[in-house]
Order: sequence, then structure tokens, then C-alpha cells
Amino acid sequence: MAKKKYRLKKKNIAIAISLVIIIIIGIVSLVKMKKELDYKKTYEYKLTELGYKEDDIEYLLDTMSDNEIDDLLLKDRNDYLVPFMKQEYFKKDHLEDYLKYLEENPKEDLSKVVSIINVGANKKAYDDSHDADMSRDIDLLMNKLNKLPNDYEPEDLVNIKNWYAYGSSRMRKEAYERFIDMFNAAKEDGVTLIINSAYRSYADQEKTYNSYIVTYGQEKTDKMAARPGYSEHQTGLAVDITTYGANASSFDTTEAFKWLQNNAHRYGYILRYPKDKEDLTGYSYESWHYRYVGEEIANYVHMNNITYDEYYAYYIEK
Ligand code: DAL
Ligand code: ZN
Repeated sequence: MAKKKYRLKKKNIAIAISLVIIIIIGIVSLVKMKKELDYKKTYEYKLTELGYKEDDIEYLLDTMSDNEIDDLLLKDRNDYLVPFMKQEYFKKDHLEDYLKYLEENPKEDLSKVVSIINVGANKKAYDDSHDADMSRDIDLLMNKLNKLPNDYEPEDLVNIKNWYAYGSSRMRKEAYERFIDMFNAAKEDGVTLIINSAYRSYADQEKTYNSYIVTYGQEKTDKMAARPGYSEHQTGLAVDITTYGANASSFDTTEAFKWLQNNAHRYGYILRYPKDKEDLTGYSYESWHYRYVGEEIANYVHMNNITYDEYYAYYIEK
């Protein structure tokens, strides 16, 4: 009897232990399942499922907001997304346009695609233009997408002394004062800078443009001269510089040009239409055309070897 009771007791204990084990296994499995379900809700999991690599996922999570990642998850993976985001002048708002442009121009360098889209060089010159942002001052952007009012004339134009220029001309006061500083510094280094052309009204530019048309025809002219209303010369902030014995095509072989290359930015001037940037500026290389933008911007543009269009698109444009 006692033995039977003992066996029953032993059986009950075994059942109890089994139950406990089953419950523990159940709980562990539930916890595991819950963990898995939670993991599947993470961006890491979802982005991995889309095919993004670990490094890229880390980069995306560091740089994008939750809303942006939610949007990203609605689209197919794009292998150029992160490489584009790592470009120095990447702008989030342009992402779709970068990707589209690259698809149409698969051989283009990514940094070039970013520049082209940022400055709108993929748009139609003149046809896609809008009014220039007249709330800007010396950092006003002029190019084939930004138009000045026909009657715009800067309020602070001053006469340029004959000492500094061929013929009579005017330009904006601050740009003139800094030009004089630049002129004096160049003089000390044995270099003479002479202004060939500065402020040009809408009507002046019209004359210039039309005279080019007669000689070169429309297509070539549009690479050399701005259409009236689109010239930096109408802002009073641009100067065409020459030196004794030079003409436009030989200017970049002169000491004066070399001096400007090394020093113009110190006086707030930049070479506005550099070599090899025609597709961004819309104009052929002009070794003589300098634009006053102030020292800070000029230093940046010069040191980083970018065009003013790129600077403006990235740092100024809303
Ligand atoms: N030559 C420059 C582009 C102008 O006409 O303003
Ligand atoms: Zn010019």
C-alpha cells in the first residue's frame, strides 16, 4: 500500500515537472516569437529585405528621418541611393531627379549629376527661366535661368575713373572699391588690371548680343554673350578685365590673368565662367570675366573649384 502511494506520488511529481518544462518551453518560444516579430518591424530588417547592405543601412538610419525611411520602404531598392547621398553637394529634394538623370545618362559621374541637377543645367536655357531673386544683394545669381527686370539698374552705380578702365563705365560701389584694392595690390606686384566693360544696361546688352549674332549666329552667340536681361553685367557686379597688349583670347596667357587666378578671391572676385564648366554655367570659358560676390563666397568658390551656380544652388537657394 505504501509502495503504491509512493509510486503515485512519484508519477505526480513527474507530471508536474513535465508540465513545468512544457510551460517553460512555451514561454521561451513565445518570447522568441515576440522577439522575431519585433525584429521584423525594425527598419534594419525591412531594409535588409529590400536588399540594402549593412553599411548602407547604417548610413541611411543615421541620415534619414523615420518618415523618409518609410517612404523609401515603399520603393524598390536603388543601388545609387547611398552613393548619391554621400556626394558633397547632395540635396535631398533633388534625389528623384538625380536618379532619373543618371538612368538617362548612365556614364555620367555622380558628382557631376548632382551639380547638373542642382544648378538646373538639365533645364531649357531661357525657356525655363524665372525672375531672379531681387531680395539678394551682392550674391544675386544671374544665369540663363534667372532673369532681371528689363528696367533694372542698381541704385549705387558709381563712375569708374579712367585710371582703371578703357572708356567710361559704371559699376556698383562695393564692387568698385574692392576692385581698386585689387588693382593696387596687382600694381605692387607689377601687374596692371584694366576694366574693359562693367555695368551694361538691358539696352547695352541687347546691342552687344545682337552684334554677336550678326558675326557668329545664334548658337555660338548664346555660348558667348548673355541675352538681354540675363547678363551679370546688368547687375553692376561683373567686370571684364584686360591688361596692356592683351585681347580676350590672349588674356589667359598674361601675367595679369595668372595674378587674378591667385588673388582675385582675396578681393571678393571670382572667375565666373571657368574652363571645363561650360555645361554648368552655360557659357564658354571667359578668362576675362570676373564677378564680385564678396570675399567669403569668393574664397569658398575658389578653394573648392566650383562655379557660382553650384555655390548658390547649395548654400543660398531655398
Ligand atoms: N559674356 C557674358 C556671358 C555676358 O554677356 O554677360
Ligand atoms: Zn563679361
